[in-house]
Amino acid sequence: MSTHIAAATGEIAPIVLFPGDPLRAKWIAETFLSDAVLYTETRGMLGFTGTWNGHRVSVQGSGMGQPSMAIYANELFNEYDVQKIVRVGSCGGLTEKVGMRDIIIANGACTDSGINRVRFNGLDYAPVADFALLRAAVEASEEMPLSSSVHVGLLFSSDQFYSTRPELNEAFVKHGALGVEMETSGLYTLAAYYGRQALSICTVSDHLVTGEETTAKEREQTFGDMIEIALRAATAAG
Ligand code: HPA
Repeated sequence: MSTHIAAATGEIAPIVLFPGDPLRAKWIAETFLSDAVLYTETRGMLGFTGTWNGHRVSVQGSGMGQPSMAIYANELFNEYDVQKIVRVGSCGGLTEKVGMRDIIIANGACTDSGINRVRFNGLDYAPVADFALLRAAVEASEEMPLSSSVHVGLLFSSDQFYSTRPELNEAFVKHGALGVEMETSGLYTLAAYYGRQALSICTVSDHLVTGEETTAKEREQTFGDMIEIALRAATAAG
């Protein structure tokens, strides 16, 4: 049992899928895993372990934003010896290069967060994806019949969903950012610190250029594609 996760040692698999929404974690466990067992509901942040294609896999809610996500990622890596975390989340589209419901596999993340500025004493760290997971996710997506496009590129991990400085997105977009979310920069940094593997895959659920939004029902199908990519990548990557 860790401070925020009620699982006993060994109850969490070496592979963890990591959605922000705890109810999405429940949906993933019920839809994709066999024999899923709930191992924590502390603070309503649900976590389950089951099997997928013969591999033990856990699904743990992270909450929204880097401070919440980092609590769970630290405890998963440090106290449960988790080896691979694949974030499966949603993001806002920042450019017309990506369409609604497209899937972004993040090779790296920009951020406006102060967390890494404190961690690196004001210097700029470059949080990047684990290459084996990234390659496995791209290969998985190429083998699957998908209803939307897959992009590999940068995410902007913002600390504010309701941005007070939306004009600042522009510089990141000019330097390759495709979508905005709130967790990837911190996840990649923590995976590097613990010497483990992490990847972030996000589905475009709203679009900051076109103003479009998806309904919950619409999101389900593309979320399904993203989960399948994540499961295949996490269980295939060395
Ligand atoms: N901003 C930040 N995080 C998000 C967004 C957004 O527009 N959409 C989904 N996650």
